[in-house]
Amino acid sequence: MAGGAVVNTGGGKDYPGKLTMFVLFACIVAATGGLIFGYDIGISGGVTSMNPFLIKFFPGVYRQEQEAERNQSNQYCKFDSQLLTIFTSSLYLAALVASFFAATVTRRVLLGIGVGFANQSVPVYLSEMAPARLRGMLNIGFQQMITLGILCANLINYGTAKIKGGWGWRVSLALAAVPAAIIAVGSLFLPDTPNSLIDRGYTDEAKRMLRRVRGTDDVEEEYGDLVAASDESKLVAHPWRNILQRRYRPQLVFAVAIPFFQQLTGINVIMFYAPVLFKTLGFADDASLMSAVITGLVNVFATSVSIVTVDRLGRRKLFLQGGAQMLACQIVVGALIGAKFGFTGVADIPKSYATFVVLFICAYVAGFAWSWGPLGWLVPSEIFPLEIRSAGQSITVSVNMLCTFIIAQAFLPMLCRLKFMLFFFFGAWVLVMTLFVAFFLPETKNVPIEEMVLVWRSHWYWSRFIRDEDVHVGAGVEMHSNGKIQAAKLNV
Ligand code: BGC
Repeated sequence: MAGGAVVNTGGGKDYPGKLTMFVLFACIVAATGGLIFGYDIGISGGVTSMNPFLIKFFPGVYRQEQEAERNQSNQYCKFDSQLLTIFTSSLYLAALVASFFAATVTRRVLLGIGVGFANQSVPVYLSEMAPARLRGMLNIGFQQMITLGILCANLINYGTAKIKGGWGWRVSLALAAVPAAIIAVGSLFLPDTPNSLIDRGYTDEAKRMLRRVRGTDDVEEEYGDLVAASDESKLVAHPWRNILQRRYRPQLVFAVAIPFFQQLTGINVIMFYAPVLFKTLGFADDASLMSAVITGLVNVFATSVSIVTVDRLGRRKLFLQGGAQMLACQIVVGALIGAKFGFTGVADIPKSYATFVVLFICAYVAGFAWSWGPLGWLVPSEIFPLEIRSAGQSITVSVNMLCTFIIAQAFLPMLCRLKFMLFFFFGAWVLVMTLFVAFFLPETKNVPIEEMVLVWRSHWYWSRFIRDEDVHVGAGVEMHSNGKIQAAKLNV
């Protein structure tokens, strides 16, 4: 066997190969699957703050808003309408249902060439394609595209709101076809991942593909590990039942906890309702759409920070730093709004004061954008072994969509009832999730997906769920004569 794996400083082994143009291009094209998700996230908030749209579909909300303006009454409640929130949140219910179908389809024929089911297939595709030491960077391309989609939507809303005649919202909604077309066309050119080819029995093609994506002929070892992982996964007839087995407990917990916590950061309050929120703070129509553009820009730039740091600093450091920053900002924003609006929601907020609030909201968005945003998709996609990968990813997507739906649905009534305390509510969750990461999430940077079991095996808590015989012994994993894994090889 030529060459072979070396243990790198970050932990785990490092297969030979480099970042080829081929893999970079494939990953960029696949990541465009995030554009459509982002566009949909960003477009609804702006549309629901446009008066012509409200008059046409939600005349009751429009009247309520006008009345609140005239009478200087409770600002917290002027957008509270179940119907209005259903407009925003229905999309996520649809996505939830779709992700269940996607799990079956991606397992059989499309593993790695996601077309319509972007969130199911793109993160997994990226993590399978990437060399382990660059997996974080390439995977976060997906989140970067989400943020670009959101920013485009914010900019488009800003422009279409100015269209005379009040039909701008139609343009905003119709333009969702553009990102859909991009990924539909792009996916026609996407190559299959080596994992997917092996799994479907195309072993020669798989080896050729692996050589091409790694840019070297020295792929025997990685190929061997992929085949071993595929063989093992073939023994599993029921991935859905399988993921409930004790040895997959860590993966199951994270498949649920990561997307749950990601949504409980409260980020989508900003993403969906930024213009509505800024209007509540007393900004004019135009200024609130502009503020949404500003948070959108911060989101894009801060995400790129994680692209360059995630494989060096690791996942844990970003989670912990981002969590602390979000928590601090939530406390400040809640306190600033509380100090002016109090519980009555009646106040005239000076421009400078409102600008100050927006500043802290931006710092909060930045904290999210280099932690829970990208890692919320990266970490699940790199911890599932092949035999439970599609089921695990499907759980992650469904929980994400369900929680997105619930938050979108609950935010306006919650703002009306909890008032400025709503920011403390989300802050408390951020505290919980940051502690959860500190205690329970092992570092996964640089560890090949097929070797991830070693990370659980050497974790202070999760090790109790993994028996020695559960550890797949791939080409590079050494066993001592007493059967103990040489966990010291991993820096975890
Ligand atoms: C989340 C979305 C969120 C977006 C913001 C994504 O990772 O899943 O819910 O709106 O980040 O950038």
